[in-house]
Amino acid sequence: MQRHKGSVALVTGAASGIGRATAIRLAQEGASVMLCDVNMSGLEETLSLMPPSARVQCQELDVTNIDSCQQAVAQCMIDFGRLDVLCNIAGISLCRNLADITAEEWQRIVAINLNGVFYMCQAAMPHLVETRGNIVNMASTAGLEGLAYNAGYCATKGAVVMLSKSLAMEFSGKGVRVNAVCPGAVETPLSAKFEMPEGADPALLGRMFPLLEMSQPEEIAAAVAYLASQEARFVTGVAFAIDGGQTAG
Ligand SMILES: NC(=O)c1ccc[n+]([C@@H]2O[C@H](COP(=O)([O-])OP(=O)(O)OC[C@H]3O[C@@H](n4cnc5c(N)ncnc54)[C@H](O)[C@@H]3O)[C@@H](O)[C@H]2O)c1
Repeated sequence: MQRHKGSVALVTGAASGIGRATAIRLAQEGASVMLCDVNMSGLEETLSLMPPSARVQCQELDVTNIDSCQQAVAQCMIDFGRLDVLCNIAGISLCRNLADITAEEWQRIVAINLNGVFYMCQAAMPHLVETRGNIVNMASTAGLEGLAYNAGYCATKGAVVMLSKSLAMEFSGKGVRVNAVCPGAVETPLSAKFEMPEGADPALLGRMFPLLEMSQPEEIAAAVAYLASQEARFVTGVAFAIDGGQTAG
């Protein structure tokens, strides 16, 4: 399948997990890919896993820094001359009792999970208008329903869903599509670090566990590759859950 032949994609969070799987999948489908992350050694590892024929560049990016976001997009224009697809996948989790969340932790999760998505969308949009391109933002089922002990994660992922819908409306007349993907539990380094907070009631976390087993990053990447392709020409403003039925009931 070469749905992305000739297109250029910028992927944040490309050093690990879902971002890495997405970068590989888009390259397998013919895209040139700008791999972006704060973790340069992880990016090098992703680079070594890319299809040999792929056109790929690595760019250090801290999504919490607006200048860094603008620089990543500008570098993509220098290296590839265009931008068709922006995948905002960088993110962190924070599972804590409300009383234990420090102001620094709150600001950090907002800075990475929400501000970073906004900065990247704003920097990329003029170029996406040129190519009638599209954005895929990585939200979560935690952006669709409440998840105990995840105030910061739910708040930021819910905001990413609504940011995506708002931009989908604002740019519908300009041919730019904006969608959000909402995975349930995915087997990645992020979910491997999951720890129940002290004194937590496991029953309250019940809905976090899907009807099926955990999904793999490649399964989420497949959905991103579809949403970012011309096959999804008529799909914009959706929050696409991939969750083994977690949010079905
Ligand atoms: N794994 C899951 O179960 C799951 C479920 C739903 C949604 N998600 C979302 O998917 C996305 C990817 O998660 P993952 O599971 O692949 O996690 P991961 O930890 O494997 O990858 C996240 C990547 O984001 C990068 N990152 C963190 N802070 C950054 C910053 N300031 N600037 C640039 N890059 C930064 C990290 O270096 C890392 O490479 C996240 O947005 C996460 O919230 C994950």
